Amino acid sequence: MKRTGLFFLAMCACLMVGTPVRAIDMLPTFGDIDHIHLPALIVQHADGDQSLQLRAQDTTYVDNAQYKETVIATKDLVQPFYVTIHVRQWKAVPITETWYEISHAEKKPVRLQRFDSGYLPLENGDLYLVHLHGNWAGEAVPTVERLTRGIKTIRNSDGARNAHLDAPEVMISLDGQPQENSGRVLGAALCWSGNFEIRVAATDEKGFHFYAGIDPMASEYILSPKEVFTTPHLAYTCSNEGMGGVSRAFHRWARTCGMLHNGNATRSILLNSWEGIYFDITEERILAMMNDIAAFGGELFVMDDGWFGGKYQRNSDDAALGDWVVDTRKLPNGLDALTAAAKDRHIQFGIWIEPEAVNTRSELFEKHPEWALQERNRELKLGRGGTQLVLDMTNPKVQDFVFNLVDDLLTKHPEIAYIKWDANASIQNCGSTYLPRDKQSNLYIDYHLGLVKTLERIRAKYPNVVIQNCASGGGRANYGLMPYFDEFWVSDNNDALQRVYIQWGTSYFFPSNAMAQHIGGSPYLMTGRTTPIKFRCDVAMSGRLGMELQPAHMTETERAQCTTAFQDYKELRELIQLGNLYRLVSPYNDQYPMSNVKLPETQSVAALMYVSDTKDHAVLFAYGLSSFMKQASRRIRLAGLDPERTYTLTERNVRHGEQPCALDGKSFTGAHLMSVGLDIPLSTEYAIDYPSRIFELK
Ligand code: GLA
Repeated sequence: MKRTGLFFLAMCACLMVGTPVRAIDMLPTFGDIDHIHLPALIVQHADGDQSLQLRAQDTTYVDNAQYKETVIATKDLVQPFYVTIHVRQWKAVPITETWYEISHAEKKPVRLQRFDSGYLPLENGDLYLVHLHGNWAGEAVPTVERLTRGIKTIRNSDGARNAHLDAPEVMISLDGQPQENSGRVLGAALCWSGNFEIRVAATDEKGFHFYAGIDPMASEYILSPKEVFTTPHLAYTCSNEGMGGVSRAFHRWARTCGMLHNGNATRSILLNSWEGIYFDITEERILAMMNDIAAFGGELFVMDDGWFGGKYQRNSDDAALGDWVVDTRKLPNGLDALTAAAKDRHIQFGIWIEPEAVNTRSELFEKHPEWALQERNRELKLGRGGTQLVLDMTNPKVQDFVFNLVDDLLTKHPEIAYIKWDANASIQNCGSTYLPRDKQSNLYIDYHLGLVKTLERIRAKYPNVVIQNCASGGGRANYGLMPYFDEFWVSDNNDALQRVYIQWGTSYFFPSNAMAQHIGGSPYLMTGRTTPIKFRCDVAMSGRLGMELQPAHMTETERAQCTTAFQDYKELRELIQLGNLYRLVSPYNDQYPMSNVKLPETQSVAALMYVSDTKDHAVLFAYGLSSFMKQASRRIRLAGLDPERTYTLTERNVRHGEQPCALDGKSFTGAHLMSVGLDIPLSTEYAIDYPSRIFELK
């Protein structure tokens, strides 16, 4: 069962045999199913009728170089109510997408009360659900649980972001406890950036039923006659190579099917100013940081929060969002001086914005208080800094404002090569001064439609600017927004040890060239943990490498290690950013080791690798997560290699002042590496904390 398409082909067949055909095999609707099953679509017609019995009218096909698409037009037996079912099967990647287009010609608006993007019947068996749960600074923790009778629901109702707490991507193992490289696993991602609900229901003894779509809570969609409501796409794959197979399918889809902007391109090595200087931006400090990143061999400098503000200064998080003018008290020579300085240093320049937000302490709010989301006659609920609000992206004037902010920056400063687009607030005030009273419940959805519309305009004009998707870290790592962004900030938590865990879970669905991973300071500000620079480099190097600290505080050894890391990374970049990921040893095999009272007998490690398409080139990352004297080491078996080929190992980013380890220069067959494995020297006689190694295999 390589392709989920099989499920759908079977279902399409049901729809095409005989007429009229019930659409419930693909889209169970309220009014057309028994009391046992859950509906994926519930509507209330203009006349109050709540029933829906869709029958296929017509089936058409699209077949182009990239995909085959089956389009089934259905109509209700009684009302002029229509749903077009789309099933798109990608040719180069085993991914199928489904979505529905809903419209009607009733006399008055119809209320859409539930409108999933897809439904899939699953066999009975020993099914396990894998979903990513987390929080700010602790994103993407894989949670694995056996599916039982009843209904398991995963949802997120943040409003503006949907990947902190619970994320809109899941896997379901059909063969018991999910394995990394074997067993049948279904993977599904809802391509949506707003509230969602994913359900696995076993309401009778016959099987499991999978549903995914927009969360209907406080989101009844009021659909006017002739309007078309298109649900988000739901993307599926089914692999018999375990969770790893699902991840590789999603990564390839992201890169090659337009689901990640410029998906097949590699990304630059950058320094971001945030954790180095926070709001304390001055021209002198920025120029010094540019000197540093250029000296390390980096390629891009990004000036984070704190550069803007007029009447209100951005010296903390409580003011000036919305006032996108350069603060000349901090930067007397404006952005031109900075872009020119970047050019002199042969690096590129990037800048931070938070376009969808406003502070009550801002000129924008004074001028346009009605642009902020707000509930009629109720006190504003304020977010970050005690003053932050979310702008009303349903309002075309606000959409223009956001577009113009980006457009102005990029027309006045065409040298800007990179934008970090942040979103640090949830929708706490669920009301719009723009939407009519009877369409207030469209807000949660229209917000995201407005956002996407604005991003489409920006991308049409600026296809080449690299844009990072940030939402207090990884709060917007989702396939709803990824087509407009080149990468995302994986987490505000830059502690190298915790990053091993966060990046592990994030890699379940997102490719490495999209995952921004920065070398942070030590001791790390959030956790107080001290980690060696080599470990911090090696952890960041497994994705899109960057750094985020004050280089002026680094020691000579740290600077030398970073220079080596950057140099080696450039040689391995294509392999790391565009290669096929094989996760080898999960950090989750053990609990957080350092808090264990009992000395763990075997060292806790994590290991992963990237393999080129032709399997002639690979890179292996191995991290020691615990270090105790005389602790047994763990052998690591590799994956994804050609068993017949012989590979020679070269150690990369060797610890400053040391020689490569004994494995350097050794050759093994792929078969040996995959069945016997390697004893990687991670623990030493001297129990170095946080040991790590990188090997290139050729
Ligand atoms: C958010 C981001 C950080 C940084 C700050 C700036 O928290 O996640 O990376 O940009 O905002 O205020």
